[in-house]
Amino acid sequence: MRACEIDRFYSPGQCLRWYAAIPARVSCRRFQGELTTEMLTALNYTAARVCLPGVRIVLAECGESLFVRVPVFGGISGAKRCACIFVKKQQPHAMTLAGISGEAFVLEAQSMNVATCWVSGTYRRKLVPVEPEEDEKLAALIALGTAAPESPGTKRRRKALADICLSPPADWPHWAYQAAEAVRQAPSAVNLQPWRLNYSHEVLRLLCKRPDSLDAGIAMLHAEAAVSPQDRHWEWGEGSCTAHLLVTEKKQAAD
Ligand SMILES: Cc1cc2nc3c(=O)[nH]c(=O)nc-3n(C[C@H](O)[C@H](O)[C@H](O)COP(=O)(O)O)c2cc1C
Repeated sequence: MRACEIDRFYSPGQCLRWYAAIPARVSCRRFQGELTTEMLTALNYTAARVCLPGVRIVLAECGESLFVRVPVFGGISGAKRCACIFVKKQQPHAMTLAGISGEAFVLEAQSMNVATCWVSGTYRRKLVPVEPEEDEKLAALIALGTAAPESPGTKRRRKALADICLSPPADWPHWAYQAAEAVRQAPSAVNLQPWRLNYSHEVLRLLCKRPDSLDAGIAMLHAEAAVSPQDRHWEWGEGSCTAHLLVTEKKQAAD
């Protein structure tokens, strides 16, 4: 098993904030106005702090035409800022690390009441405001700003927990159930929710259709936020398994 970069990278304080931000966060598709200088400073600070090895998040001004209007989603309007997530091309687990770091950024933004939308497909490549370094690729953009008042309060559509768990989560220890529930609430490309979770012998396994993907990383960050108070350990998985999360259950039982 290979050690995973997320292990002990984020502080319990960060994880607590992000866990609290999960239920309220929805994708924003209508932005309005500008972020204050204080908010931009805080977001730049966050961008510098949340990046795992090989990942770089850069905030930039952008024009509305950066985002392509798609009939199903209705496009993104009024966004004046975006975060560009770059990752080193040679970095193992590049897209997963980008997903973890990007979702940490999204949830920190949510905790400051800054609205966000992940965008990995529907943008115009030529209008991306920041160039990657030679050894980097652009993993995704995140549109960010203040939600317009008329922004529809999108109701999150999510699968039932039973549909993403390979055995009944009611039989799992509480930490594993909480982690699975946090994964269930995570955003994903085209809302596909391509995760499966399985628990046995103190280990929660996260399986993903594309094991190295933004969606896989986003799910890992949600699980990390949910279990951070526990004595935990992450390892990369193999095949369709993205990662293993081990929690020492004796300590959990004493809680
Ligand atoms: C990795 C990722 C990529 C995404 N790419 C796009 C995109 O290219 N265009 C878009 O309009 N929305 C995109 N989204 C937003 C999803 O459609 C949205 O998160 C999903 O429908 C769930 O909605 P919610 O975040 O409001 O719960 C993306 C989301 C994720 C997590």
